[in-house]
Amino acid sequence: MPSNASRGAPIGVFDSGVGGLSVLREIRALLPNESLLYVADSGHVPYGEKSPEFIRERCRVLAEFLLAHGAKALVLACNTATVAGVAELRELYPQLPLVGMEPAVKPAAAATQSGVVGVLATTGTLKSAKFAALLDRFASDVRVITQPCPGLVERIEAGELDGAATRELLQGFVAPLLAQGCDTLILGCTHYPFIKPLLRSLLPDSISLIDTGAAVARQVQRLLAERDLLAAGPAQVTQFWSSAEPQAMQQVLPLLWGTAAKVSALP
Ligand code: DGL
Repeated sequence: MPSNASRGAPIGVFDSGVGGLSVLREIRALLPNESLLYVADSGHVPYGEKSPEFIRERCRVLAEFLLAHGAKALVLACNTATVAGVAELRELYPQLPLVGMEPAVKPAAAATQSGVVGVLATTGTLKSAKFAALLDRFASDVRVITQPCPGLVERIEAGELDGAATRELLQGFVAPLLAQGCDTLILGCTHYPFIKPLLRSLLPDSISLIDTGAAVARQVQRLLAERDLLAAGPAQVTQFWSSAEPQAMQQVLPLLWGTAAKVSALP
């Protein structure tokens, strides 16, 4: 039987950078009583172009850090980290509630009218065996066009969500998807929900955008409820760490998280 102390323990969340804040926002909205710990591995961003071995090692380090700070559950708020590292973390921590994320292929395949679905994600996610398996499983009846987006994560890390350079970059990524008739676009990287307004301005209204932050928050809620680990009282803390210069994250937090907060250096 879990104690009040274990119910009041925080949920640990990490990403290669600030993208996972899009998931943290969903968790905060759905589970306002929970304390939250967030680590941005911005000293090593982008994960999208790095080797699976490197990312696995970072997943181990970040998970250990969050668990040492008392996390009762872990969320890999990063598609790229999930394809590389979630299986190993599940082996290392078999009892721990652990939620990873993957591009929303199943709902997109169900939603498309044109039969053509586009996926914006990192190179690492798109070339993984886990993503190939996802397509085999859920997308055999639709055409899926994948589009890696190198350079986009760096702009979002810098808080450049709607400038001319970000617009031009994004335009180049969506043009081939539109030309091929895709009517449903999966945002397969947790950084991308932050450029949704820009993306919307580049797309016809008929195109649906699908991301998974809210579904991940519901999965966290479900796992905690199953184990009787949901916090009862109002949230005590939300704490942030970055493996890059904390000041950089502190500057973009009001934009991406909604309020200013202190960011500590990841030791
Ligand atoms: N936010 C990450 C994801 O969901 C990856 C960004 C990166 O390349 O570091 O895939």
